Amino acid sequence: MEKPSYYNPYRPGAGHMPPHLAGRTEEKSEFLRLLQQDVILENLVLTGLRGVGKTVLLDTLKPMARENDWLWAGTDLSESVSISEIVAATRLITDLSVVTSNVVFEIQKVKTFGFKAEGKLIENTLNYEILLSIFNSIPGLVADKLKGLLEFVWGCIKDKGYKGIIFAYDEAQTMSDHAKKNEYPLSLLLDVFQSIQKKNIPFMLVLTGLPTLFPKLVESRTFAERMFRILFLDKLNEDESREAITKPLEDPKCSLKMSDSAVDLTIKVSGGYPYFIQFICREMYDILSQYSPFDKRTIPVEEITRKLDNDFFAGRWARATDRQRELLEVIANLPTSEKEFTVQDIVEASKVLDNPFSSSHVNQMLSKLVDRGLVYKNRHGKYSFAVPLLGQFILRLEKDQQGKLF
Ligand SMILES: Nc1ncnc2c1ncn2[C@@H]1O[C@H](COP(=O)(O)OP(=O)(O)OP(=O)(O)O)[C@@H](O)[C@H]1O
Ligand SMILES: [Mg+2]
Repeated sequence: MEKPSYYNPYRPGAGHMPPHLAGRTEEKSEFLRLLQQDVILENLVLTGLRGVGKTVLLDTLKPMARENDWLWAGTDLSESVSISEIVAATRLITDLSVVTSNVVFEIQKVKTFGFKAEGKLIENTLNYEILLSIFNSIPGLVADKLKGLLEFVWGCIKDKGYKGIIFAYDEAQTMSDHAKKNEYPLSLLLDVFQSIQKKNIPFMLVLTGLPTLFPKLVESRTFAERMFRILFLDKLNEDESREAITKPLEDPKCSLKMSDSAVDLTIKVSGGYPYFIQFICREMYDILSQYSPFDKRTIPVEEITRKLDNDFFAGRWARATDRQRELLEVIANLPTSEKEFTVQDIVEASKVLDNPFSSSHVNQMLSKLVDRGLVYKNRHGKYSFAVPLLGQFILRLEKDQQGKLF
């Protein structure tokens, strides 16, 4: 008999759609509500820690938008997009052209015969070249050109049955203004959308990114506070985690089942964080396929955790300097490290060190760690880890190192 080919359903990996997207029902219905807006008063920010599922949720919203007659433009952002206003504008035009390149519009070409002008309608499509030439023909600053272009585009598509266009940008926390170079690409984005939305043009921004994103938007333009509905993606609750683990096994291609105790253990070790669920399940499934029957006693939790440490945490840890690591260790040992902590908490706790941290030093270092995406500052001025379960990883390392002394 032919052996069935091996199939592991779990998908640990940035932006990889899980076999079953658990939870997120509130977020999806909130998005549907925003799609009902005729005049865009609220745009969307999807934010949350690393690996919590922002990208895959964004991918899930796209077909929902299409079903509701919205066009969807957008991409991943990177620092290079926010080098200058013109680069950011070009990015937007490029993304827009992908969805408008099939939209036909008519321009009037005027031929003159003596004193008599005769108009001839010529069909054209809103492809990149056309969009760019319209952009270039509009006088004024980059913001004026972009507003003019977006207005023109809406004029061409509004009678074609579309409700509007979503501009969806992932990793939007990478956008910044550069006052020293007099380049304000992030402000440009906010100004342009605010202005066209005031003119009742239904172009909506959907931005996703780390928790640094929203404070960054507000720092750039204070009106951003009122412009966005913020959805903070959290870890999955127990039922949702259970679903994320067990639903994929209903696939007829999966020949294996997990015991209840294995599921419980996965929920506990993953802390309900989606990436960790996918990772642990994938490993477990691999092992399960080799050593069946399988229950809690045989799960090599420690080995799986070590593999996770290597794959997910080690790289981020390696990029931190020695002094930053010392600071992170102090934080990891705080009783509130999994939630939030203050500069003062760190200063106090570091007093037992040979080389304690002063508050100005902690402030400076935290702001570097924010830039590195390891911590973020919340709205109340307190800090949290931007990487889930980072504190537990650091404590494991500490324990390992102490182990080596003996
Ligand atoms: N709701 C969910 N149910 C089950 N698995 C999920 C869910 N959301 C995300 N995942 C899984 O978690 C992992 C991380 O998802 P994703 O890349 O979307 O996270 P992210 O928040 O965009 O991370 P990053 O901050 O690194 O960009 C992927 O393997 C994905 O399949
Ligand atoms: Mg992502």
